[in-house]
Amino acid sequence: MSRTVYVNGEYLPEEDAKISIFDRSFLMADGVYEVTSVLDGKLIDFEGHRVRLERSLNELDMQKPEAFDDLLDIHRELVRVNDITDGLVYLQVSRGSAGDRDFAYPSEDVKPTLVLFTQNKPGLADSPAAKTGIKVISIEDQRWGRRDIKTVQLLYPSMGKMMAKAAGCDDAWMVEDGHVTEGTSNNAYIVKGNTIITRQLSNDILHGITRAAVLRFAEEAQMQVEERLFTIDEAKQADEAFVTSASTFVMPVVELDGETIGAGTPGSVATRLREIYLEESRKAAV
Ligand code: PDD
Repeated sequence: MSRTVYVNGEYLPEEDAKISIFDRSFLMADGVYEVTSVLDGKLIDFEGHRVRLERSLNELDMQKPEAFDDLLDIHRELVRVNDITDGLVYLQVSRGSAGDRDFAYPSEDVKPTLVLFTQNKPGLADSPAAKTGIKVISIEDQRWGRRDIKTVQLLYPSMGKMMAKAAGCDDAWMVEDGHVTEGTSNNAYIVKGNTIITRQLSNDILHGITRAAVLRFAEEAQMQVEERLFTIDEAKQADEAFVTSASTFVMPVVELDGETIGAGTPGSVATRLREIYLEESRKAAV
């Protein structure tokens, strides 16, 4: 059975959903997105994703879609009609279509395009990878300078995933000026003793919604958090490593560039944070 998706005010079967070939997200990657996870039929961290979407739009001088204030209802309706227990809701806003190709932004009367669809992922929180941990490689960070804006320019992260795959690994950590920025689609952390170390927020990384929640829970659980730069060498010497994102929650990393991290199995800090994150987020889900 085909999915029901949302396009500019309409709920449609996916095969009937259409946007213009002149849409600026297609021609210029002039669009922003959010991915919100669904557990037990409820949305995780919805408010954080809504607030970050608004920030991305503001940073790019992009109009809010008319339905901005209805986003929670639209998410819930898609989860309901597609019968999603565990999965993801993908949302994309683009600057719309002016009916031609032009580098300059179109006038204000060109309305943004709003698209949402669901991805069904039964057992999303019971991923086998969380029990074994994942393997990552390091690659140079070749993305643009405004990674704090969640744009659909994802070619380099896709290339990174392919480089990881070619190396027999699961993901890549990107490195700039000798320091880890983040994973291709997640924030990166190392653990030394009782201290969790992750890069500080700036334009260099996405301000992860899962990151914010996990750091809050870590502090509440009396763990030390240091937001600072770290290198690949420091990561290789760490006791543990992990990544966070809306689709993987807290995911242990057990190998970096072929070298085992800690005991080579998911560490106790990552395991505990995953449990706390899942428990607290399920409680707060909407
Ligand atoms: N990616 N850093 C990057 C580059 C990301 O693409 C993501 C999310 C994150 C984690 O952010 P959050 O915790 O808000 O999901 C960090 C999503 C899941 C994706 O592109 O599918």
